[in-house]
Amino acid sequence: MLLNKHCVLWFCGLSGSGKTTISMALQQQLVQEGYEVVVFDGDVVRKGISKDLGFSPEDRTENIFRVAQACKNVSQRGVLAISATISPYESHRVMAGEMLGDTMKCIYLDASLQVCQDRDVKGLYAKAMAGEITNFTGVSDIFEPPQHPDLVLHTGQDSVEVCVRKLYQFLCRDVLGTTP
Ligand code: ADX
Repeated sequence: MLLNKHCVLWFCGLSGSGKTTISMALQQQLVQEGYEVVVFDGDVVRKGISKDLGFSPEDRTENIFRVAQACKNVSQRGVLAISATISPYESHRVMAGEMLGDTMKCIYLDASLQVCQDRDVKGLYAKAMAGEITNFTGVSDIFEPPQHPDLVLHTGQDSVEVCVRKLYQFLCRDVLGTTP
């Protein structure tokens, strides 16, 4: 089933804030309802369409440009596109917004650096703190919280289930105009 409206859910948040978990959970729920959903997850994208890129500001911007372009292509067919990338700079969200227009909804996964560091699911914060990884978001590179998010999910406090429910309700009510 295709959407009655073009839509890109543009997540942003620190590594470990739950972008992958929440995007996959939402995708699973929507696919069960018959919708088509494509997730562009940062870790996956960086092994594929962005495998030539690193984490300098220029490379991150190019990465976001490619993901926004891919989201545009997918969403124009009526498929829900989700970008699950850190997109740490406000200029990234502005660029994506210019490319996607009001089809883009900025979803901020707001978990504190402390929470993400404590979770350290991939062990990358420890490596960044030890100086083994450079330009690491939150440690040695900036994360600018979005100035105008369409929805904030408190992924440091609320459970995955609560966050996915809030996101689903937002999608139905504010984007698709359907009943949650
Ligand atoms: S973005 O800044 O360009 O949006 P993206 O979401 O694609 O980043 O990739 C982030 C993922 O790459 C992280 O979840 C982490 O697993 C990995 N990674 C490796 N090096 C870094 C780094 N220096 N900063 C942030 N993430 C990194």
